[in-house]
Amino acid sequence: MSFSELVDKRCSVRGFSQKGVERNKILQILHAARRAPSACNNQPWIFIVCYKEETRKNPAAVYDWEWFVNAPAIIAVCFDKSVSWKRGDGKEYGEVDAAIAMDHITLQAAEMGLGTCWIGAFNADKAKRVLRLPAGVEPVPFTPLGYPQVASKKKARKPLEEIVHWEFFEG
Ligand SMILES: Cc1cc2nc3c(=O)[nH]c(=O)nc-3n(C[C@H](O)[C@H](O)[C@H](O)COP(=O)(O)O)c2cc1C
Repeated sequence: MSFSELVDKRCSVRGFSQKGVERNKILQILHAARRAPSACNNQPWIFIVCYKEETRKNPAAVYDWEWFVNAPAIIAVCFDKSVSWKRGDGKEYGEVDAAIAMDHITLQAAEMGLGTCWIGAFNADKAKRVLRLPAGVEPVPFTPLGYPQVASKKKARKPLEEIVHWEFFEG
Protein backbone atom coordinates (compact mmCIF):
# COMPACT_ATOMS: atom_id res chain seq x y z
CA MET A 1 0.00 0.00 0.00
CA SER A 2 1.44 3.40 -0.96
CA PHE A 3 1.44 6.26 1.53
CA SER A 4 -1.23 7.99 -0.52
CA GLU A 5 -3.43 4.88 -0.42
CA LEU A 6 -2.90 4.65 3.34
CA VAL A 7 -3.96 8.27 3.81
CA ASP A 8 -7.12 7.49 1.85
CA LYS A 9 -7.75 4.31 3.82
CA ARG A 10 -7.58 5.92 7.26
CA CYS A 11 -10.91 7.19 8.48
CA SER A 12 -12.64 7.60 11.82
CA VAL A 13 -14.12 4.27 12.91
CA ARG A 14 -17.05 4.35 15.30
CA GLY A 15 -18.01 0.69 15.66
CA PHE A 16 -15.76 -2.26 16.51
CA SER A 17 -15.96 -6.04 16.41
CA GLN A 18 -15.49 -7.69 19.80
CA LYS A 19 -12.44 -9.56 18.46
CA GLY A 20 -9.56 -8.56 20.71
CA VAL A 21 -6.58 -6.71 19.30
CA GLU A 22 -3.39 -8.75 19.53
CA ARG A 23 -0.88 -7.28 21.99
CA ASN A 24 1.95 -7.42 19.41
CA LYS A 25 -0.16 -5.30 17.03
CA ILE A 26 -0.69 -2.70 19.74
CA LEU A 27 3.08 -2.66 20.32
CA GLN A 28 3.70 -2.19 16.59
CA ILE A 29 1.33 0.79 16.64
CA LEU A 30 3.08 2.27 19.68
CA HIS A 31 6.47 1.81 17.97
CA ALA A 32 5.13 3.87 15.06
CA ALA A 33 4.05 6.55 17.55
CA ARG A 34 7.44 6.76 19.26
CA ARG A 35 9.16 7.29 15.89
CA ALA A 36 7.19 10.51 15.33
CA PRO A 37 9.05 13.82 15.25
CA SER A 38 8.77 16.12 18.27
CA ALA A 39 9.96 19.63 19.05
CA CYS A 40 13.68 19.50 19.95
CA ASN A 41 13.24 15.71 19.93
CA ASN A 42 12.01 16.06 23.52
CA GLN A 43 9.52 13.19 23.07
CA PRO A 44 7.20 14.35 25.86
CA TRP A 45 4.66 11.61 25.07
CA ILE A 46 3.06 9.23 27.49
CA PHE A 47 0.78 6.56 26.03
CA ILE A 48 -1.72 4.89 28.30
CA VAL A 49 -3.19 1.70 26.90
CA CYS A 50 -6.40 0.52 28.54
CA TYR A 51 -6.40 -3.10 27.46
CA LYS A 52 -7.83 -5.22 30.26
CA GLU A 53 -11.60 -5.35 30.41
CA GLU A 54 -11.78 -3.75 33.84
CA THR A 55 -9.53 -0.78 32.95
CA ARG A 56 -11.26 -0.24 29.59
CA LYS A 57 -14.35 0.69 31.56
CA ASN A 58 -12.48 3.65 33.14
CA PRO A 59 -12.43 5.85 30.03
CA ALA A 60 -16.21 5.32 29.82
CA ALA A 61 -16.49 8.06 32.42
CA VAL A 62 -14.47 10.28 30.12
CA TYR A 63 -16.32 9.86 26.82
CA ASP A 64 -19.59 8.03 27.19
CA TRP A 65 -20.35 6.66 23.73
CA GLU A 66 -21.19 2.98 23.30
CA TRP A 67 -18.76 2.41 20.39
CA PHE A 68 -15.95 3.96 22.43
CA VAL A 69 -16.69 2.21 25.71
CA ASN A 70 -17.01 -1.20 24.02
CA ALA A 71 -13.86 -0.96 21.89
CA PRO A 72 -11.39 -3.79 22.60
CA ALA A 73 -8.65 -1.30 23.51
CA ILE A 74 -8.40 2.41 24.23
CA ILE A 75 -5.25 4.53 23.99
CA ALA A 76 -4.80 7.93 25.61
CA VAL A 77 -2.01 10.05 24.12
CA CYS A 78 -0.67 12.42 26.78
CA PHE A 79 2.32 14.71 27.12
CA ASP A 80 4.42 15.76 30.08
CA LYS A 81 4.64 19.55 30.43
CA SER A 82 7.94 19.26 32.27
CA VAL A 83 9.46 17.63 29.17
CA SER A 84 7.75 19.39 26.23
CA TRP A 85 9.35 22.25 24.35
CA LYS A 86 8.07 25.83 24.68
CA ARG A 87 8.72 28.50 22.06
CA GLY A 88 10.39 31.77 23.07
CA ASP A 89 6.98 33.44 23.43
CA GLY A 90 5.86 30.66 25.77
CA LYS A 91 3.76 28.69 23.28
CA GLU A 92 3.41 25.09 24.44
CA TYR A 93 4.31 22.49 21.78
CA GLY A 94 3.42 19.36 23.76
CA GLU A 95 -0.01 19.17 22.17
CA VAL A 96 1.52 19.37 18.71
CA ASP A 97 3.91 16.53 19.55
CA ALA A 98 1.02 14.46 20.93
CA ALA A 99 -1.04 15.14 17.80
CA ILE A 100 1.74 13.96 15.48
CA ALA A 101 2.21 10.79 17.54
CA MET A 102 -1.54 10.23 17.36
CA ASP A 103 -1.44 10.59 13.59
CA HIS A 104 1.23 7.90 13.44
CA ILE A 105 -1.07 5.71 15.56
CA THR A 106 -4.05 6.18 13.27
CA LEU A 107 -2.02 5.54 10.10
CA GLN A 108 -0.16 2.50 11.44
CA ALA A 109 -3.44 1.05 12.70
CA ALA A 110 -5.11 1.63 9.32
CA GLU A 111 -2.25 -0.13 7.53
CA MET A 112 -2.85 -3.14 9.79
CA GLY A 113 -6.60 -3.19 9.15
CA LEU A 114 -7.41 -1.71 12.57
CA GLY A 115 -9.72 1.22 13.23
CA THR A 116 -9.19 4.32 15.35
CA CYS A 117 -10.99 7.59 15.98
CA TRP A 118 -9.59 10.82 17.34
CA ILE A 119 -11.47 11.73 20.51
CA GLY A 120 -10.99 15.31 21.61
CA ALA A 121 -14.38 15.90 23.23
CA PHE A 122 -13.61 14.06 26.46
CA ASN A 123 -13.87 15.28 30.03
CA ALA A 124 -10.28 16.25 30.84
CA ASP A 125 -10.69 16.39 34.63
CA LYS A 126 -12.20 12.90 34.73
CA ALA A 127 -9.56 11.66 32.29
CA LYS A 128 -6.75 12.79 34.58
CA ARG A 129 -8.47 11.11 37.51
CA VAL A 130 -9.23 7.73 35.94
CA LEU A 131 -5.83 7.49 34.22
CA ARG A 132 -4.15 8.55 37.50
CA LEU A 133 -2.09 11.17 35.68
CA PRO A 134 0.45 13.03 37.81
CA ALA A 135 0.36 16.85 37.84
CA GLY A 136 1.69 18.31 34.60
CA VAL A 137 0.69 15.37 32.41
CA GLU A 138 -2.05 16.34 29.96
CA PRO A 139 -4.23 14.01 27.91
CA VAL A 140 -4.64 15.27 24.31
CA PRO A 141 -6.62 12.70 22.34
CA PHE A 142 -8.06 9.32 23.19
CA THR A 143 -8.65 6.71 20.55
CA PRO A 144 -10.55 3.47 20.60
CA LEU A 145 -8.71 0.68 18.82
CA GLY A 146 -10.22 -2.41 17.27
CA TYR A 147 -11.24 -4.25 14.14
CA PRO A 148 -13.78 -2.09 12.31
CA GLN A 149 -17.34 -3.35 12.26
CA VAL A 150 -19.07 -0.32 10.85
CA ALA A 151 -18.06 0.99 7.44
CA SER A 152 -17.26 4.68 7.66
CA LYS A 153 -18.40 7.11 5.05
CA LYS A 154 -15.68 9.00 3.27
CA LYS A 155 -15.80 12.59 4.46
CA ALA A 156 -15.47 15.41 1.97
CA ARG A 157 -12.46 17.69 2.15
CA LYS A 158 -12.16 21.32 1.09
CA PRO A 159 -10.60 21.81 -2.33
CA LEU A 160 -7.01 23.06 -2.41
CA GLU A 161 -8.05 26.36 -4.00
CA GLU A 162 -9.99 27.15 -0.84
CA ILE A 163 -7.18 26.50 1.63
CA VAL A 164 -3.88 27.17 -0.14
CA HIS A 165 -2.30 30.56 -0.66
CA TRP A 166 0.90 30.88 -2.62
CA GLU A 167 3.61 33.25 -1.39
CA PHE A 168 1.34 35.13 1.07
CA PHE A 169 -2.23 35.31 2.33
CA GLU A 170 -4.66 36.85 -0.11
CA GLY A 171 -8.25 37.34 0.99
C1 LIG B 1 -8.53 17.05 17.08
C2 LIG B 1 -9.67 16.13 16.71
C3 LIG B 1 -10.67 15.89 17.64
C4 LIG B 1 -11.71 15.01 17.33
N1 LIG B 1 -12.63 14.70 18.30
C5 LIG B 1 -13.62 13.81 18.02
C6 LIG B 1 -14.54 13.41 19.03
O1 LIG B 1 -14.48 13.83 20.17
N2 LIG B 1 -15.51 12.51 18.69
C7 LIG B 1 -15.60 11.96 17.44
O2 LIG B 1 -16.49 11.13 17.21
N3 LIG B 1 -14.73 12.32 16.45
C8 LIG B 1 -13.75 13.22 16.71
N4 LIG B 1 -12.82 13.55 15.74
C9 LIG B 1 -12.91 12.92 14.41
C10 LIG B 1 -13.37 13.89 13.33
O3 LIG B 1 -14.76 14.10 13.44
C11 LIG B 1 -13.01 13.30 11.96
O4 LIG B 1 -11.59 13.16 11.87
C12 LIG B 1 -13.47 14.17 10.80
O5 LIG B 1 -14.89 14.23 10.77
C13 LIG B 1 -12.99 13.64 9.44
O6 LIG B 1 -13.41 12.31 9.25
P1 LIG B 1 -12.35 11.12 9.02
O7 LIG B 1 -11.47 11.03 10.25
O8 LIG B 1 -13.20 9.88 8.85
O9 LIG B 1 -11.56 11.44 7.79
C14 LIG B 1 -11.79 14.42 16.03
C15 LIG B 1 -10.77 14.68 15.11
C16 LIG B 1 -9.72 15.50 15.45
C17 LIG B 1 -8.59 15.70 14.45
